[in-house]
Amino acid sequence: MKRIIALFLMSVVLCQAQDYEFPPGFLFGVASASYQVEGAWNTSDKTESIWDYLTHTNPSVILDNSNGDIACDTYSKTDIDVELLKNLGVDTYRFSLSWPRILPNGYNDYIDQDGVSYYNKLIDSLLANGITPVVTIFHWELPQSLQEIGNGWLNRDTVDVFVDYADVVFSLFGDRVTTWITFNEPHIFCEFGYSKARMAPLMNLDGIGGYECAHNLLLANGRTYRLYNEKYREIQQGRVGITLDAAWYEPGSDSEDDVLAAERSMQMLLGWVAHPIYSETGNYPAVMRERVDAMSEAEGYQTSRLPYFTDEEVEIIKGSADFFGLNHYTTELCAAADSFDSEPSFEADSGANCYFSDNWETTGASQFRVVPWGFRKLLNWIKSEYNNPEVIITENGYGDNTGDLHDCRRIYFYNAYLSELLKAITEDGCNVSGYHAWTFMDNFEWASGYTIKFGLYNVDFNDPDRPRTAKMSAYNYKNIIQTRKVDWSYTPEGFEACEWE
Ligand code: BGC
Repeated sequence: MKRIIALFLMSVVLCQAQDYEFPPGFLFGVASASYQVEGAWNTSDKTESIWDYLTHTNPSVILDNSNGDIACDTYSKTDIDVELLKNLGVDTYRFSLSWPRILPNGYNDYIDQDGVSYYNKLIDSLLANGITPVVTIFHWELPQSLQEIGNGWLNRDTVDVFVDYADVVFSLFGDRVTTWITFNEPHIFCEFGYSKARMAPLMNLDGIGGYECAHNLLLANGRTYRLYNEKYREIQQGRVGITLDAAWYEPGSDSEDDVLAAERSMQMLLGWVAHPIYSETGNYPAVMRERVDAMSEAEGYQTSRLPYFTDEEVEIIKGSADFFGLNHYTTELCAAADSFDSEPSFEADSGANCYFSDNWETTGASQFRVVPWGFRKLLNWIKSEYNNPEVIITENGYGDNTGDLHDCRRIYFYNAYLSELLKAITEDGCNVSGYHAWTFMDNFEWASGYTIKFGLYNVDFNDPDRPRTAKMSAYNYKNIIQTRKVDWSYTPEGFEACEWE
């Protein structure tokens, strides 16, 4: 009897969410990033980015020893890809610019016209097909030459050089690009690349490198935003935001310590970059300031490992985004952890041990599990923490290890996450204006190489032509875009129906 009641209640809940429609004006898109898809790593005058350099000099860091030299070869397939996007019916396409493809020296002394032509062609053909470009200025492709000068983002001068680069791309493309994202995921980029040795540039300066890097990225974001306001906003009428990554951190138990640990994790993992930009007071979250200062002092540091902003810098950074770009993949449970006496690290500073429940469905990426309800909680947290800013979901998606076309678990992921998003918009009043599926096509998944596939389209990497084939999830997404609803019973023609457990 209990089971029947539970099933009945579940179907009521499901039906409700199914009935919700995405509001008029809500934009659907797919996302990608230059190094993961473009290939053409040394075409024309393009120089190495930190990812070219890493994969060429240290291939064993990549799970399958691969690289992005050719990747999906989107560099030479603009026509094919825009046609696919058009068929999919997306409103927007989020892609990123490769800094060393446009400015081979990193500086603005020399612009490679071939690189510019490539992006012009992409932007123009998207617009000609009714698709709005959403352009990320930095999705991790720092020119290697700048990494070699003062260790890239550890060097304060890189802030100036980035602002010059942003100035160049606003002036080149801003007549047609009106949605800009300065940085993709400062937390992941800085922690994995500068604190740890999991991503380029493998700095491995735990407890220090990530903080310095993110501090400079925040300044660069603030200064870029101010530059846009002063020089471009009036003429180009565009918007500039930033994309932050966030899991949802749920308390591992009802104990006060675990509840505090989960909230601290939210503040330190998302608030680290979000609070200086989106809060009313600006600057780092108080709990982060207190903890890193206290830990640093106990470790014998004369100054905190978390740098300080001047008052003027706080003001430059505060409010330096027109929208909140959010990448979300998973949820974790957090328990309090006593971390004094350990080696300096971000994890020790946050004093939390976060983990997955065994009950949650695994994915092809060990760092992500499928927990749809966490998405809604995260959106509500952002709403209440930062006064309901406009949120654009810039990434959300599911990776497997197969690239199979009959990808029911990916469809499940999208249907379930989008249903939670619908509830967040409709029932909770969260101000979400757009959604990008990660990702358009299977691609180079950073340190996992080509072993994890997030694409709506399969790419045959053994074929020099890199043919793309729509997976069942691409048709399902197309149906969602067309109907503006999630339909669990939809089965695209030519595919066997999925069975939902
Ligand atoms: C990144 C993407 C990446 C995705 C899946 C995000 O952290 O922005 O580039 O492919 O996660 O791991």
